[in-house]
Order: sequence, then structure tokens, then C-alpha cells
Amino acid sequence: REIPLKEQSIVLIGFMGVGKTTIGQAVAKKLYRDFIDIDEEIERRFGMPPKEIFAKYGEAVFRQHEKEIISEICHKKLKVISLGGGAFLQKEVQDVCLATTTIFFLDLSWDSWKDRISLLIDSRPVLQGKNMEEIKQLFDDRQPIYGQHHSRVVTDNQEIEEIADYIA
Ligand code: S3P
Repeated sequence: REIPLKEQSIVLIGFMGVGKTTIGQAVAKKLYRDFIDIDEEIERRFGMPPKEIFAKYGEAVFRQHEKEIISEICHKKLKVISLGGGAFLQKEVQDVCLATTTIFFLDLSWDSWKDRISLLIDSRPVLQGKNMEEIKQLFDDRQPIYGQHHSRVVTDNQEIEEIADYIA
């Protein structure tokens, strides 16, 4: 590993709406580190949110930018970084994160997750136009991509502070 473990950035992965951003902010605060949300970083650089990038340019353009930004940011030391739920669809993203950072997979069961759906549907283009069965399918299909992690954190019935303490 080129970056010593103690200096590596912490990367949070997992499905949309499991709490990567909220938990990431809490971890960063505990460790006195900067927090970087990749979706926000894409929005800042692109001048529009992921939803609009999807609508205007398509998913492939979004993924390309996502990949480039993650590859750059993962090399920074001592950050806490949350990735978008689809970032790990790209092998290059998995490889660069595995090589340079410590990856925590925030795992939430379908039963706990499905109650959050109404909060997510407006802003998440990959959920739009899908019925519950199709969303469950996407949820199940996505779980294996999160297999490339250094640590799995089961978040069902856990407070944000408890999860953040564990990671920190
Ligand atoms: C996506 C997840 C979103 C965002 C984009 C695509 C996905 O991030 O990157 O809407 O494909 O799962 P969150 O996981 O933060 O919702």
C-alpha cells in the first residue's frame, strides 16, 4: 500500500439512502478530518446535480466524471469520503479505492431501507419510473458490487453516532 494505513482516507460505500453522507460527516467530525461527498463534488464541478446530469447527458457521462473525480480524490490523505451508490459499478473505481483507502460498506437490510424510499425517489434518477419490485431487484443486484470492502458495518437499528463511533 502506498499510503500508510493511519493516513489513508476512509471511504463509505453502500446503496442509495443508507446514510453515507450523514454518517461520513459524523465520522469526519470525530476524527477532525475533512469530509468530501462525491455527488456534491460532481455537482460543484459540473454546475448541476446528478439528477440533471443524468437527464441532460445520460448516465454514461455521469459515470465517467464520477470515476475521474474519485480516482483523483482517493489519493488524498486523511479525508472521509462518501461515494454515490452506483460508483462501485465501475471496476476502476473499486480498484483505486481498494489500493489507496480504507473502505467501509454500510449495509442496511431491504426491510429497513424500503421505508426510506419516499425520501429518495425525487432526487435519485436510477429509482425513477421503477415499481417496488424493480427497485427491490436493483437493491439485490447491487449488493454484490459492495463486496469489495475492508469492513462491513451492519446499520439496521443503529444510531448515526454509534455507527460513526465504530468507524472512527
Ligand atoms: C446513484 C446514487 C446517487 C447518485 C446518483 C446515482 C446510484 O448517490 O450518485 O443518483 O446509481 O446508485 P447516493 O448513493 O448518495 O444516493
